[in-house]
Amino acid sequence: MIYSKITGTGSYTPERVLTNRDLEKIVDTDDAWIRSRTGIQQRHVRAEGQTTSDLALVACQRALAAANLTPADVDLIVVATTTPDMVFPSTACLLQDKLGVTNGTPAFDIQAVCTGFVYALSMADKFVRGGSARCALVVGAETFTNLLDWSDRNTCVLFGDGAGAVVLQPSKTPGIYSTHLHADGRHANMLSVPGAFCAGQANGSPTVKMDGGAVFKFAVKVLDQVCREALEANGLQIADVDWLVPHQANIRIIESTGQKLGIDAGRVVVTVDRHGNTSAASIPLALDLAVRDGRIQPGHKVLLAGVGGGFTWGSALISM
Ligand code: UT7
Repeated sequence: MIYSKITGTGSYTPERVLTNRDLEKIVDTDDAWIRSRTGIQQRHVRAEGQTTSDLALVACQRALAAANLTPADVDLIVVATTTPDMVFPSTACLLQDKLGVTNGTPAFDIQAVCTGFVYALSMADKFVRGGSARCALVVGAETFTNLLDWSDRNTCVLFGDGAGAVVLQPSKTPGIYSTHLHADGRHANMLSVPGAFCAGQANGSPTVKMDGGAVFKFAVKVLDQVCREALEANGLQIADVDWLVPHQANIRIIESTGQKLGIDAGRVVVTVDRHGNTSAASIPLALDLAVRDGRIQPGHKVLLAGVGGGFTWGSALISM
């Protein structure tokens, strides 16, 4: 039996930090409200001219270095993003060029908003298990601040920019035990950027629209469900899991999910305080930070779980 295993992680956040106090000068909000309702203290914002593939590039270089590999080894690139550099080519193709991968390696984007990384990991897992790839780069990268209306306090305080990447390689031992993906398009209007380009114009709105309360309730429900689904599929209990790395949208969603699952708060990785919600980048960013600071160790079982626009949700149970 061949599994796919994460052999390196990397991440990158732009240098520019936007604190809650900075936001107080832009929109009618305050630091105390944002902290108490979301847990967010700051977020990173891309530099002028910096694109999603630029952020992804640094995260990938760091992941490859951690795996002792070079771009020449890569034979699959999957980028999860909601904020591509352009309509086409895909961000994955642009990233391939920036990385200097010139061997015709397949490269494509996945759009599942905040669940994007879990979807991308699941796709790449299938390529590696099936023998079509031996070194897959899986990236979640976003310049999500491009989609914000800075006068809408309901949304602009929540999101930030960043990228996280992992290298997946074949292994005789797990590896990724299983992935579980779901979607329900009936909830499309709960969280969306309801715009598109047509005849040189943006039709509809180019910024995020959200029913925050409805998203909150939906997220808590499906994160719990999809984590339990992963545990049941592998005959495990939550006590068997060393770390939960959930999508980082709101500390109250993370805490509620942890409580419903019955996992100790100390075994839940939290980065929402410093990154805000970085959509597809949030899970790999959190994973990389916990690997680099030594919390997640080789052999640890880690449960990843995401939820986002679509609506989409999913989980992955992995051994590091
Ligand atoms: O990846 C998924 C992406 N999205 C999410 O995860 C969002 C999920 N939802 C949430 O995180 C929460 O619902 C929010 C953080 C968006 C809102 O928290 P809440 O506790 O549900 O607040 P609320 O919507 O009930 O709003 C309470 C009050 C309202 O004022 P009134 O109508 O009671 O006078 C809002 O206008 O808070 C007000 N408010 C703010 N006040 C200061 C909303 N945003 C802000 C703000 N600063 N930024």
